[in-house]
Amino acid sequence: MSDTTTITTDTPITRYRSSQRLLHWLMAIVIIAALAIGLYCSYLTPGIPLRRALLDIHKSLGMTALFLIVIRLPLRLSLGEPAYQRPLGAFNHHAARGAHMLLYILMILMPLAGYTTSAAGGHDLPWFGLFQWPNLLPLDKGLERTAAEIHEYGAYCLYAVVSLHILAALWHHFVRKDEVLKRMLL
Ligand code: HEM
Ligand code: HEM
Repeated sequence: MSDTTTITTDTPITRYRSSQRLLHWLMAIVIIAALAIGLYCSYLTPGIPLRRALLDIHKSLGMTALFLIVIRLPLRLSLGEPAYQRPLGAFNHHAARGAHMLLYILMILMPLAGYTTSAAGGHDLPWFGLFQWPNLLPLDKGLERTAAEIHEYGAYCLYAVVSLHILAALWHHFVRKDEVLKRMLL
């Protein structure tokens, strides 16, 4: 797949590599689905069958995110990011950098905290009904509670940063009409 495309002014745009774009959108779908299901589950009574079934899907999506971030991070560190044709300006540049860094931190922290919550609590670690992930932690209710709190506050941060991230991408595309979204389109 080509890593360059053109906008109406015929300015060539350097896009992220196809592997980076694919991983970005795959993870975006997985994480937004995990967030939505997690949020819905937090309103359901613990122990009811619907919540258990949804949490199994939630955990499967979360573990998928953990697996994908292990591939994505080294790829990002080795491939870097494409240069902008038109610089964004210092403020936008630093804001984008900070937000992306925060997203990467949360994409590592959230699945790890989720895994720790379930593993230390002695709960299931399913992957779409196909197999169980190994439980590497001893039963520890204190650790389960701490990890669950980190998971909950991490989720609040993720709601905020992902919302800003999506709004920023739309603002660049529809208001500033610049190259930012096109760099990431498949
Ligand atoms: C990107 C990955 C993940 C995201 C964005 C995410 C997000 C969320 C959200 C928004 C909630 C509801 C708020 C809360 O009660 O904490 C939640 C709950 C939960 N998540 Fe995750 N999660 C992820 C990964 C995981 C993983 C990998 C597991 C376990 C293998 C997991 C297990 C749980 C459990 C057990 C709950 C219910 C917690 C409770 O009732 O105290 N999550 N998650
Ligand atoms: C509809 C949803 C989304 C849209 C429209 C979107 C759009 C974009 C765009 C346009 C970029 C490139 C920014 C630039 O080149 O300066 C980008 C980068 C990025 N996005 Fe998203 N995104 C979405 C969802 C998500 C989600 C859910 C996450 C993770 C939780 C995420 C994490 C990232 C990260 C970490 C980068 C930086 C990539 C890098 O430099 O390695 N995105 N996104």
